[in-house]
Amino acid sequence: MAGAVETDVGARRDARAGAGGHVRRQLRKITEQVLAERTLILASNRGPIEYRRVGGTLRAKRGAGGVVTAVSAISGLANPIWIAAALGPGDRERAVQAGGRPIEETGGGNRYRLRFVTPDPAVYDAYYNVIANPLLWFLQHYLWDTPRAPNIDRATHRAWDDGYAVVNRLFGEAVVDEARRADQPALVLLQDYHLYLAPATIRAALPDALVQLFVHIPWPDADYWRVLTRRMCEAICRSLCACDIVGFQTQRSARSFLRTCESFLPDADVDYRTRTVHLGGQTTRARVYPISIDVNAVRRTARSNAAREHGAHFDAQLHRPHQTILRVDRIEPSKNILRGFEAYRLLLEDHPELRRQVRFLALLVPSRLGVEEYGRYLDEINVLVGRINLEFGSDEWQPIEIVTGDDYARALAALQRYDVLLVNPLIDGMNLVAKEGAVLNHRNGVIVLSEGAGAFEQLNHLTLPVWPCDISGTADALYEALMLPAEERHERARNLRQVVEEGDIARWLYDQLVDLRQISSGV
Ligand code: G6P
Repeated sequence: MAGAVETDVGARRDARAGAGGHVRRQLRKITEQVLAERTLILASNRGPIEYRRVGGTLRAKRGAGGVVTAVSAISGLANPIWIAAALGPGDRERAVQAGGRPIEETGGGNRYRLRFVTPDPAVYDAYYNVIANPLLWFLQHYLWDTPRAPNIDRATHRAWDDGYAVVNRLFGEAVVDEARRADQPALVLLQDYHLYLAPATIRAALPDALVQLFVHIPWPDADYWRVLTRRMCEAICRSLCACDIVGFQTQRSARSFLRTCESFLPDADVDYRTRTVHLGGQTTRARVYPISIDVNAVRRTARSNAAREHGAHFDAQLHRPHQTILRVDRIEPSKNILRGFEAYRLLLEDHPELRRQVRFLALLVPSRLGVEEYGRYLDEINVLVGRINLEFGSDEWQPIEIVTGDDYARALAALQRYDVLLVNPLIDGMNLVAKEGAVLNHRNGVIVLSEGAGAFEQLNHLTLPVWPCDISGTADALYEALMLPAEERHERARNLRQVVEEGDIARWLYDQLVDLRQISSGV
């Protein structure tokens, strides 16, 4: 009976807490348990706060991007130490003011103790603009035009040694320094491909620390790692095998990681059944935690005044019976934006009756313009869109509208209003746009989803799948999506919403903490 009362109270609390309420309660509980035994230290290249000098003052602004949003979810519960790179002069100035000690910050209901690592700008440039993006990013998204690139020459080796390795060492040393100051052993949560070499430094100094690195992007097949050099690949694998857990978005990536370790670390013992690597007395587990969105927070932002204003603007533009195909992406070659437009062009060619009845709205966010390939990609997009608009457009109808800029509220407003959402990346760690669309859309919109997106492992049967290079297949899927009967659209949309609500960001963190706690208590 007591159990029933408890359940009932819990259920009411869950309803108040919104999506994933019960997981949030469990998350709070396990966070408390873990923190009773360990000091939490997070590290990511981009931190939760960026400082800019405005006139006489240093202003704090929320750090951009999905990684910060996801990892921030734990800050509301734990007040972690968060180590990040100083990205601009404002961050460096703030770091100097703090004298190497953590800076107490709050923002969006979260509390952080933020510590910057402050590499020399030239060192940071080699780490970020030569090795992390593009070398590793292109490798992990299969983007290299391998007959021609990458050419790993002396300059690349220098960027590796004097850039990537140096910044990783700085991160590792900052973690060790903070861990030594704490009165409990550390739990270190490292984020992403920028920090592959940090675990080796941390493990060498802190044998008792619990160390996890989560890889937010795909882990390609072992063979493709040969576009690197043996010593780089080996250094990455060895360092990752200093972790207790290496986390991935998908089963596919976790399997590839095991195969990569087996291929390039002759002294490693890989067990595919338990998904572990044993190397020099350390056991490393390859685990899968599909990242997600904070459903409640996304819905709150979608109800904000800014989003409402954008929504009203979009509504004023829509004249029924127009249907809107939407895409929301960083301007990024792995997002496969060009083939998406080619598929739309084919759709208009095959189905003249759709002309003037549909439009394609593309919200594109400029990204990494310091890397040459990104600027070129944007130029190609503009040329192609110009061609399609010229070929099919008229005074009354513009087939494709591109809106560039980084405006999250605008993106969420658009996601409420699509009839078809095109998410066709060549390959993608997860793709949170698909999940945001699933919970926000008001029109029973259909998602056309690439099988290369990490999100496909969870959403597959509820979307219309496409293979990313198959332009005619994508055109057919767009047509099918536009024509899907109302009842089926409704059914799919409802199920999609439910799947994403259940797999909220709280679940991502919770599953990691459960596994880490088990290791910590030697279970
Ligand atoms: C994307 C990826 C993340 C990555 C981030 C880096 O969001 O999904 O895995 O960490 O890009 O972006 P940045 O703008 O910091 O280079």
